[in-house]
Amino acid sequence: MKLLGASLMCADLLHLGQQIKELETANIDFYHIDIMDGQFVDNFALSIDFIKLIKPMTTRPIDVHLMVENPERYIQSLAEAGADIISIHAEAVTHLHAVLTKIRSYGIKAGVALNPSTRVETLGHVVDLIDVLLIMTVNPGFAGQKFIERMHEKVIFSAKWLKEQGSQAIIEVDGNIGHHTLGLCHAEGASMFVLGTSALFHQRGSLIENLQETRQIISAR
Ligand code: DX5
Ligand code: ZN
Repeated sequence: MKLLGASLMCADLLHLGQQIKELETANIDFYHIDIMDGQFVDNFALSIDFIKLIKPMTTRPIDVHLMVENPERYIQSLAEAGADIISIHAEAVTHLHAVLTKIRSYGIKAGVALNPSTRVETLGHVVDLIDVLLIMTVNPGFAGQKFIERMHEKVIFSAKWLKEQGSQAIIEVDGNIGHHTLGLCHAEGASMFVLGTSALFHQRGSLIENLQETRQIISAR
């Protein structure tokens, strides 16, 4: 399985409606919504109201990446706004088991995001509650960074580890996913890819062309 998602923090917000229409035409697989609180990371990004704005424009999954402290405060509002997947950072939550259980109680897929330095084995006692393992391949907070090379071994290790745990969780990768990293991460075991400035929202082609080109790269593997 290969699912390509548009990271909407990288979209041209002045032309958001038009960009969503193009992504729909290009058959994007999901929308990735980065929410930042200026605390967990040194930046601010999208919001719950932003999800409400785009939800009527698509039937594709809304994949929320919460880069916020104490994310449990926002689960109900995100569920009401129409989130389909919510990933919380293991580093930002005290009671991970409780929050994952809460996410699933709304019928939403539960994800855990890991900073580059966090080991996947820390999730051993909650692995049965995880639908998506979001491996950050850059330090979270900003688009346009460089892929941290050692994240390749993390994807390989995580895929093996999840299998050993009997988990069906999908591995999602986020951060500088483009020509050089996408095919390799797929071969290593990732199947959800967050496309930001590296693969989709750049000026070398239209969104439709950029997505087509990205699909070709990944199907060549
Ligand atoms: C933050 C974001 C970024 C970004 C990815 O979590 O998700 O990682 O959209 O796009 P790039 O790294 O290609 O600019
Ligand atoms: Zn993200």
